[in-house]
Amino acid sequence: MQSAAVDATNRAALDALFHRAGHVDHLVLAASGGRGAGPFAELDPAGLRAGFESKFWVHWHAAQAALPALAPEGSITLITAALSRLANPGTSGLAAVNGALERTVPVLARELAPRRVNAVSPGVIATPWWDDKPPEFFARASQQAPLRRAGRAEEVADAVLFLLGNAFVTGVVLDVDGGLHLT
Ligand SMILES: NC(=O)c1ccc[n+]([C@@H]2O[C@H](COP(=O)([O-])OP(=O)(O)OC[C@H]3O[C@@H](n4cnc5c(N)ncnc54)[C@H](OP(=O)(O)O)[C@@H]3O)[C@@H](O)[C@H]2O)c1
Repeated sequence: MQSAAVDATNRAALDALFHRAGHVDHLVLAASGGRGAGPFAELDPAGLRAGFESKFWVHWHAAQAALPALAPEGSITLITAALSRLANPGTSGLAAVNGALERTVPVLARELAPRRVNAVSPGVIATPWWDDKPPEFFARASQQAPLRRAGRAEEVADAVLFLLGNAFVTGVVLDVDGGLHLT
């Protein structure tokens, strides 16, 4: 197994990475910036722009840069967020970033076929993303889903593996959120 670290906001670095890799079976994009949250009336447009830069544009550039190397039977899986379809006050920015990504999935699934394009849309998942947020905020957010707990990274990874492995699934946004999207 090989690994390499690049700053995914750097298109030239992404192009070089995929050129070096030469052949990509499956591309899974899980970068997160997390900027762009907050009540709309006070939302700093620069923060929301940074949110688009660090997530929407990172996913967009990485997917485009990978295409020359991506196998015809390969796939792209975006990691989006359940917030894209919730109506939680204070999340319009994050909904816009992740909603924009989710809307590309069905279009790209047709356009890039026979490559497959899907997304996994997580709810609240216990990862380092929450480390700089107040613990009570994490606890409250975890309780919003019908299953009343945070998810585990392994549960998101299971869904990703399913999408990579099932060669007849494309154009799908798969919710892995304990039912959060139902609230
Ligand atoms: N955790 C949740 O509750 C939750 C909920 C909904 C959706 N999601 C989504 O799930 C995905 C994974 O989130 P997570 O919880 O694992 O977040 P995380 O703990 O903050 O990890 C994000 C990862 O993205 C990498 N990254 C960020 N910007 C990058 C860049 N420009 N170039 C290369 N790598 C970059 C980070 O690398 P470094 O560590 O080197 O910075 C880190 O490994 C994200 O798309 C996030 O929006 C998470």
